[in-house]
Amino acid sequence: MSSNPSQHKKRTRIALLPAAALLLVGGTVFVQSTGPAVAAETTLRAAAAKAGLFFGVAASPGRLSSIVGQEFNQLTPENDMKPSTIATSSGALQNTGAADTLVNHAQSNNMVVRGHTMVWHSQAGSLQGANQATLNTFIGNALTRWGNRIAYWDVVNEALEDNNTGRRRTQWPHTLNRDANGDGDFFDSTDTDVIRDSFIRAKQVVQQNSLSTKLCINDYDVEGLTVQGGTANRKANALYDIVRTYRQYIDCVGFQSHFNDNPNSIISNDLQANIQRFADLGVEVHLTEVDIDDDLSNNDIGQGQADNYRKVVRACLNVARCTGITVWGISDSESWRSSERGLLFTGGNGNYQRKAAYTAVLDELNKGRTISPTTPPVTPTTPPVSPTSTPVPPTTPPVTPSDPPVSPSVSPSSPQPPAGCSASVSLNSWTGGFVATVRVTAGSAPINGWSVGLTLPNGATVSNSWNSTATGTSGAVRFSNVSYNGRIAAGQSTEFGFQGTGTATGITPTCTAS
Ligand code: G3I
Repeated sequence: MSSNPSQHKKRTRIALLPAAALLLVGGTVFVQSTGPAVAAETTLRAAAAKAGLFFGVAASPGRLSSIVGQEFNQLTPENDMKPSTIATSSGALQNTGAADTLVNHAQSNNMVVRGHTMVWHSQAGSLQGANQATLNTFIGNALTRWGNRIAYWDVVNEALEDNNTGRRRTQWPHTLNRDANGDGDFFDSTDTDVIRDSFIRAKQVVQQNSLSTKLCINDYDVEGLTVQGGTANRKANALYDIVRTYRQYIDCVGFQSHFNDNPNSIISNDLQANIQRFADLGVEVHLTEVDIDDDLSNNDIGQGQADNYRKVVRACLNVARCTGITVWGISDSESWRSSERGLLFTGGNGNYQRKAAYTAVLDELNKGRTISPTTPPVTPTTPPVSPTSTPVPPTTPPVTPSDPPVSPSVSPSSPQPPAGCSASVSLNSWTGGFVATVRVTAGSAPINGWSVGLTLPNGATVSNSWNSTATGTSGAVRFSNVSYNGRIAAGQSTEFGFQGTGTATGITPTCTAS
């Protein structure tokens, strides 16, 4: 970590702010203090807030004991915002009382809410079998019903098949998908994709109502880069491709983190690296439904489980854009997997006892973030999609097949010099617009800053950009590093992106290092 004294002073000052203020600057990079000892926080929420993330819990109205507001600063309705409860067959809302109770409880306890969930093959209730237009109606109704009282919404849940195939599920709502050219994905301009169309609709509603709600995709068995035996985690890779392709609509990714001894559900050593690669796309990453089977460590119910919790929390803390952890329930006996005793408390009915796992999590949160200087901190908001890039008006059903993004095409990298830097661009294009993701790679020596120039074709303009400072909007344009991503170690990379109108096919970036 940088030893720049002014930076250290700034961080120390931030670290002394009250917890509520710290939550607002989620993702701030903290360094373990080398100065006088700061008193450890005694609740999960306070320790998490100090480290710049939320620590939440899944709850139902019957489980809103005082511990919820004392220990947690984020709440996810475990079942009460699922379509089976709140959706009618036409996408209208019904039975929102329990959800309201949870949102009100969260608000009065200064907790952030995650809406869970809109488009899901399970617990779909009357929405089961609905077409995209009806799904879009429901998405609009759910988003506007609670507005900014919901900070994050799981727009799409569990879209990918089990058993590490890397494929989409085949049951509804994925029966709406059409792979028009048969190339095995749903990313092409002639394809239909329920994920894409649901996120486009959600993003429109957010923009048209000036909401700050962030839109997430959530799944399980996507946590590590590999699964048991070191096999590539194809499900994680498939999720990564989806987020990368639809980055302009997706703000956050949920790794459910139901860890158990299923070969695809283990805690792998590359958990942090996988969190990092999603974070590098510019999305927030959350561990959304954490529970850890107590026999993962040779039936060591106490310390083994505690060590595993520590490992998972540390992986998140080590990535600045990992901005929240949520456990899937308060106590083992009240968990959906009670026999696996995967949570932080024993007991029930409001009378809870802390486990070794609780102490480990609290201790790890109190250590704060230790992040390498090249890791970018959370940007306050994900850059909005400009209204012109979301092709459908609010009341009309989904995007027409000719509008969606096409599969990423990577243009050749500029020649890699021995030192200095190189840049390559990956484009997602659709009729009338594109998103470019540019990867900047340092040569054989570290660099302290970079600037990437490229010339846009006639008619193309930059409408917004992220993780860089843009100069110019058409013709010859330039993107320079921002404060947190200028320094790149030899051979390492960082990414920035921009969105534009027109077409950017054939653009060739040139990188200059400083
Ligand atoms: O409320 C009824 C009760 O009246 C009835 O007597 C009882 C009989 O079985 O069922 C109760 O409803 C159960 C409900 O949980 C509330 O406890 C349902 O049967 C049961 O299916 C439902 O399970 C939920 C499960 O999702 C359904 O898929 C779990 O509580 C909930 O924790 C779980 O959450 C999911 C996430 O949404 C997505 N990720 C996986 C996670 C675990 O499966």
